[in-house]
Order: sequence, then C-alpha cells, then structure tokens
Amino acid sequence: MPWIVGVSGASGTPYAAAVLRALLAAGEGVDLVVSRASRLTLLDETGISFRDAHWREDLREWLSRGADGKPDSFDVDVDVTGVRHWAPGDLAAGPSSGSYPTKGMLIVPASTACVAGVALGLSKDLLQRAASVTLKERRKLVVAVRETPLNGQTLRHLVTLDDAGATVVPASPAFYAGATHIQDLVDFVAGRVLDAAGAEHDLYRRWTGELGGGAGTT
Ligand SMILES: Cc1cc2nc3c(=O)[nH]c(=O)nc-3n(C[C@H](O)[C@H](O)[C@H](O)COP(=O)(O)O)c2cc1C
Repeated sequence: MPWIVGVSGASGTPYAAAVLRALLAAGEGVDLVVSRASRLTLLDETGISFRDAHWREDLREWLSRGADGKPDSFDVDVDVTGVRHWAPGDLAAGPSSGSYPTKGMLIVPASTACVAGVALGLSKDLLQRAASVTLKERRKLVVAVRETPLNGQTLRHLVTLDDAGATVVPASPAFYAGATHIQDLVDFVAGRVLDAAGAEHDLYRRWTGELGGGAGTT
C-alpha cells in the first residue's frame, strides 16, 4: 500500500523532496498531491514550474535538487516509478475515498491554511480531502506545519488535529545530530516526519545518549 504525500504551500519544498527520496529509496509506493499554492513556493525555492501534465520530469528535477535549490545535488536519474501523481483539483482521485487503500498520509510542508482546512474538514481540494479521509479511516496522518510565529487560531487547529489522531511534527530542525550543511537540517526534519509515520529511513544520526556528537565537537 502506498503513502499519500501532500505538499502544501508553506515554505519548505526541500523537506518534501527529502521525504519523497527516502520513501522511494525504501521501495515505498507514493501517491503524490502537490497543491496549487505549493507550485509558487516550489518555483520560488527551486525555480521549477511543476506541471501536472509533465509531473514525471518536473518531479525528477525537483528530487535531484538539494536544500540550496541547485540542480544535480542528488542522482539525476531518480526513479519515480513508485509514484502515482494526482492533480490537486481531482476530487474523484483514489485518495479521495476511504476505500482506496493507503498506509496513511504525510503533509510536508503543511501551511497554516492547510492545517485550518484539515482541522475544519473543509476538503477544499484533493490534499485536504485525502487528509480528512485519512483521519476518518483512522490511518496515520503526519502534519509537518511550517510557520512562525504561530497565532492562537493555528495553535487551536493543531490541537484539533492532534485530538483527531494526527501527529503534528513542526518543521523545526535540531542541532544535536552533527549538522554541517543545510541539507542535514532538512534531512533531520524529513527523518522526524518519517519516524512519526513509522517509515524506515537513514536520514539523520540518532541520539545515542552520549553528549558530544554535535557539529561543534566533532
Ligand atoms: C513564497 C511563499 C512562501 C509561503 N510560506 C508559507 C509558510 O511558510 N507557511 C504558511 O503557512 N504559508 C505560507 N505561504 C502562504 C500559503 O502558500 C497560502 O496560505 C496558501 O493559501 C496555502 O494553500 P495550500 O494549503 O492549499 O497549499 C507562502 C506563500 C508563498 C507565495
């Protein structure tokens, strides 16, 4: 069964790329939904215009880029055969129904608009509908919210999501895992998102209980 990966219009498209690379490397199937608004953040952060009609080549290009948005940081020939792409306006798509089997859904990054929409059950597009379906089916939903500061309204929506069974994973990197590059910080957040889903990965160095593993001490 695949994971649904929803990419919404918060800053942080490198987080989505890192999660997607890791899932594909682990041989997981992915149902991908890229919101309309996230095309703007992707364009801003990588220079890529994501087109539904050319999603394979645009996705390959996106996954080949690292945190600095520069091309070819990762294997240019990323295998995207495990990905099924759905247009965000396609409310008849598989993930819109609970009878479509999935392991769950990762929203990475999650905008506050998306958080609000899922908390209120708006289903304004396929991404939000798939998240509502994931909750109603009691499947795993991981929400990697990216905004700062957070207002009370968003905080209340996040509590609603937590109460509904979602795991909220703020996109907040830590510095104990020996980060020396921006990509290490990206991979830390992506790794914590995958941890929350229970998906295998090798994206960051785990805490061992021994102090002294940070970048300043190595
Ligand atoms: C360049 C850019 C960066 C943005 N960054 C954020 C962000 O970090 N967090 C956030 O909640 N919204 C951010 N937004 C606003 C969202 O894109 C906007 O609220 C949009 O309606 C979200 O729609 P979606 O959830 O359907 O993708 C950003 C917008 C742009 C254009």
